[in-house]
Amino acid sequence: MEDRPLTRSSGLWRPEVIEDIQVKAALGRYRIRGFGTMRRVPSFEDLVFLPAGLTRVPLEGYRERCETRTVIGTRFAKEPLILSAPVLISGMSFGALSRNAKIALAKAATRVGISTTTGDGGMTDFEREYSEKLIVQVLPSRYGLDPRHLRSAEGVEIVVGQGAKPGTGGLLLGQKMSSAVARMRDLPEGVDQRSAVRHPDWIGPDDLGIKIEELRCVTEGRVPVIVKLGATRVYEDVKLAIKAGADAVLVDGMEGGTAASPDPLMDHTGIPTLAAVTEARRAIRDMGVEGEVQLIIAGGIRNGVDVAKALALGADAAAIGTAALIALNCNRPIYADDYRAIGAEPYACRHCHTGLCPVGIATQEPELEARLDPEEGADRVANFLFSMIQEIQLFARACGKSNVHNLDKEDLRALTVEAAAMAKVPLAGTEWIPGVE
Ligand SMILES: Cc1cc2nc3c(=O)[nH]c(=O)nc-3n(C[C@H](O)[C@H](O)[C@H](O)COP(=O)(O)O)c2cc1C
Ligand code: SF4
Repeated sequence: MEDRPLTRSSGLWRPEVIEDIQVKAALGRYRIRGFGTMRRVPSFEDLVFLPAGLTRVPLEGYRERCETRTVIGTRFAKEPLILSAPVLISGMSFGALSRNAKIALAKAATRVGISTTTGDGGMTDFEREYSEKLIVQVLPSRYGLDPRHLRSAEGVEIVVGQGAKPGTGGLLLGQKMSSAVARMRDLPEGVDQRSAVRHPDWIGPDDLGIKIEELRCVTEGRVPVIVKLGATRVYEDVKLAIKAGADAVLVDGMEGGTAASPDPLMDHTGIPTLAAVTEARRAIRDMGVEGEVQLIIAGGIRNGVDVAKALALGADAAAIGTAALIALNCNRPIYADDYRAIGAEPYACRHCHTGLCPVGIATQEPELEARLDPEEGADRVANFLFSMIQEIQLFARACGKSNVHNLDKEDLRALTVEAAAMAKVPLAGTEWIPGVE
């Protein structure tokens, strides 16, 4: 046989690895992008429900009630946050998002009876106006932080970390630093903002306890204080947050979305949401605060099916970012030429950091923002949220549960060994949970 040149592809030096090296060789820096990890990691997709058969009785879909009401903050808050369903819209800043996007999310959340959250850069008047239930974030950057905003909130969230960028601070590139955004942050217009990675006035868990006390003083103990963590050392971090006095913890897995983060961080830090929920629930149980401290899980939650599985694994609620933006039209195949102009394609756009979002969501450019009608956007997000609630109820009823919070690990089986080990549920067709006697 003649000797032919070898053309087979390398598993290590894949085309995207080669392309990445060559882009860095041109840029002299790592790449920054939006969205979330591109890796395939063990996820809720690797779990299935075991609906009722002879051992349990299913509920009638259209006639029998299935409760979705969710309460966050039963530990200390005088006025816990009451949601119509176990879903929250996560913190996404005005700056990362356009005014119209923030208004659409706020209106949709209010229509459905759930909460939305501010973000880096502070609370805007319009977001307050349209949100019936608003969680105000306290971030390391402290941009726009105002005690009056905290007092007006239905919940306060201290951000320690994010799934898309644990161990690093916020990033808002100059092209999105419009005059309105810059004013809120006391920063010059058009200049890149790299915000602080740690809170300026505390360095450890004991200081977090003092900060939580301060926030309780400011809000007169009225509203729940949530601690948001990127999913890294989840078991230990959740225990420390509980010890510091958190009413609830939000754990954001490695699939968590962002508007701008270093590309290598997104793929190589943190643990998958599937593993994070199990670790966090174990910490809550070991601290003896089940039913007192709520667990909110985030990171790659795509629909009500993912939420139902998260609830079954021990979450009390799930927060969504990217999915809400997709409902707003992110990655929709319209304005295709404008996607191409920024080097993207519909369905594969990760270009939120550019400020040139073709569909008016992640931009501060008036002409682009005008493409997103806040009323129509609110309709789409509200429809999507209602569909999520129906999906959660669909699985709960099929498993014979009259309350979505009664979904249980017992209702799940894993399709892969990895998912079985991380979620600590048996591999389908066996009683085997890897790593558990
Ligand atoms: C456009 C965008 C902006 C964000 N801005 C913030 C922020 O200001 N503060 C924060 O704590 N998290 C921020 N996040 C992270 C979200 O709060 C949330 O943790 C994450 O989106 C959850 O993952 P998901 O997008 O897969 O649902 C942002 C996410 C996106 C997509
Ligand atoms: S369509 Fe807009 S919001 Fe969606 S990824 Fe692209 S730039 Fe970001």
